[in-house]
Amino acid sequence: MVKILVIHGPNLNLLGKRETDIYGKTDLQTINGKISKRAESLKASVEFHQSNHEGDIVEMIGKAAKKFDAIVINPAAYTHTSVAIRDAVSAVDTPVIEVHLSNIYAREEFRQKSLISPVAKGTICGFGTDSYLLGIEAAVSMAGKK
Ligand code: DQA
Repeated sequence: MVKILVIHGPNLNLLGKRETDIYGKTDLQTINGKISKRAESLKASVEFHQSNHEGDIVEMIGKAAKKFDAIVINPAAYTHTSVAIRDAVSAVDTPVIEVHLSNIYAREEFRQKSLISPVAKGTICGFGTDSYLLGIEAAVSMAGKK
């Protein structure tokens, strides 16, 4: 069974209440439920973590290497600022798939640069909750090719 770690970065615990015109009205628990269902249909298992702290996310990525076949991460605001998360992604062999609810390339200039994308296996953005579901599909597909 393919084992996937899903990491939600800062402020994603506020989904459903936060900037709903951009991120939609679906809360994180509902998104996680949809991810679980998709993973189940692909015979994959999934574990979830949400953190507002950069160091926590760095450690999660490092520890995941032994336990998981792939990581699906929405680094949220850290996408645009975190050299530490980028370096953590570079340091592990586990494929990392970057996802975003919004299309970061259609937004403010500061969001149009991702420090993570160059070191991720691939990036999916702009499809709302479906970005995560596509990320899960990509993770299963990647793990199958290993
Ligand atoms: C986000 C995009 C980021 O720019 C932003 O800081 C977020 C969410 C997205 O999922 O669209 O918090 O990662």
